[in-house]
Amino acid sequence: MSVIDMKSNSLILALPKGRILKDCLPLLKAANIIPEDAFFDKNSRLLRFKTNDPKLDIIRVRSFDVATFVAFGTASLGVCGSDVLMEFDYSDIYAPLDLNIGRCRLSIAQLAGIKDKNLEDPARWSQIRIATKYPNVTQRYFASKGAQADIINLHGAMELAPVLKLSNLIVDLVDTGSTLRANGLQEVKTITQISSRLIINRTALKTQSACINRLIDRFRQLVASPNKESVS
Ligand code: PRP
Repeated sequence: MSVIDMKSNSLILALPKGRILKDCLPLLKAANIIPEDAFFDKNSRLLRFKTNDPKLDIIRVRSFDVATFVAFGTASLGVCGSDVLMEFDYSDIYAPLDLNIGRCRLSIAQLAGIKDKNLEDPARWSQIRIATKYPNVTQRYFASKGAQADIINLHGAMELAPVLKLSNLIVDLVDTGSTLRANGLQEVKTITQISSRLIINRTALKTQSACINRLIDRFRQLVASPNKESVS
C-alpha cells in the first residue's frame, strides 16, 4: 500500500467524529495534547487542527475513514473502534493499545415481538436478509454458523430496514439500546464487544519511531491510571 507524506516530520492524529470523539477528549487533555480553539467550536468547518505541539496535528473524520487514513499513512496514528478494524482488517495498521473508550457491542437485531421462523432454523438462514454497514464481519459471522447471508450494505439509519421490510435483521452497534427501542427493534444476539484502540501506521512506526513510541507510552500510562492523571 502506498504511503504518502512519510518524509514529513509532523504527525497527524486521526480522530473519529461523534460519540468516540467525546470519549477521546479527557484522554487528549490528560496526555497534554491541546487542540486549537476551532476544534471545540461546533460552527467551525475546519477538518484539520493544530495542537499545542507544533509537530502534531489532528484531523477529524468519519470513524470508518480513520482506519483508511492510517492504513495509507496519511495519518500516522488514530483512534478507531474495533468494529472498524474487524471490518477492514488492514495489514498496514498496528493496534497496540485498547483505550477502553467507545465501549459498546456489535449485535444482531430484529423487529420486537415477532417470531421469525427463518431465524430459528439455521437451515433457513440463507433466506434471511441483513442490513448492515459491516458486510464483511456479518458475512464471516453467518458463514461461521454455516449460512450464506444475504447482505444489504447501508451506511446509517439501519434501524429503518426491518421496519420498512428491506431486511429481516440488522447488524449494528448497540450501546444503551435506545435507538433499537425507539424504532421498535430488539437485540437478538451479541456478535462481539467493541472498544476503541490506538492505531498506528506500521511504516510510520519505523520512520517516526521516537515520537510515536513516546505517544504510545503516554496513552498506555493514562489507560493504566484509574484517575487519568496527566502525563507528558
Ligand atoms: C450508533 C449505531 C446506532 C446507535 C446505537 O450510531 O449505529 O444507531 O449508535 O446507540 P444506542 O444503543 O445508545 O442507541 P451512531 O450514533 O454512532 O451514529 P451513526 O448512525 O452515524 O453510526
